[in-house]
Amino acid sequence: MEISVSRKTHFNAAHRLNVAHWSEEKNKTFFGPCNNANYHGHNYDLIVTVTGEIDLETGYLIDMKYLKDIVKEDVEDRFDHKNLNLDVEDFKTLNPTAENIAIVIWQLLRKRLENKLKLKVILYETERNFVEYNGN
Ligand code: NI
Repeated sequence: MEISVSRKTHFNAAHRLNVAHWSEEKNKTFFGPCNNANYHGHNYDLIVTVTGEIDLETGYLIDMKYLKDIVKEDVEDRFDHKNLNLDVEDFKTLNPTAENIAIVIWQLLRKRLENKLKLKVILYETERNFVEYNGN
């Protein structure tokens, strides 16, 4: 019996989208306001979904307390109220787009889960714009 368990969370962070080896003009044209030199903020929403076979003895797929704790440690503590470009090691050389943030989050959480569990993250950058990553 395959089942999914999700944890929803939220963090606020600032970022600037920029390709270092592009000209200022090209960055401005391509990224628009997201290239603003003094950064801008987003209220990110994140849904982390773990999928796998239910443990018939306990009735659990995963301990939701554990899922809550790893999302707090690996995502909230790491990203909330941070400037992603300046404060977060992962984005020193990686453009902090919603796509890349979702991939970084997936990679962090993947290490904390048993191999038999599948993982998917959905990251909302705005209410209407979101990206989804499942490791493929
Ligand atoms: Ni932005």
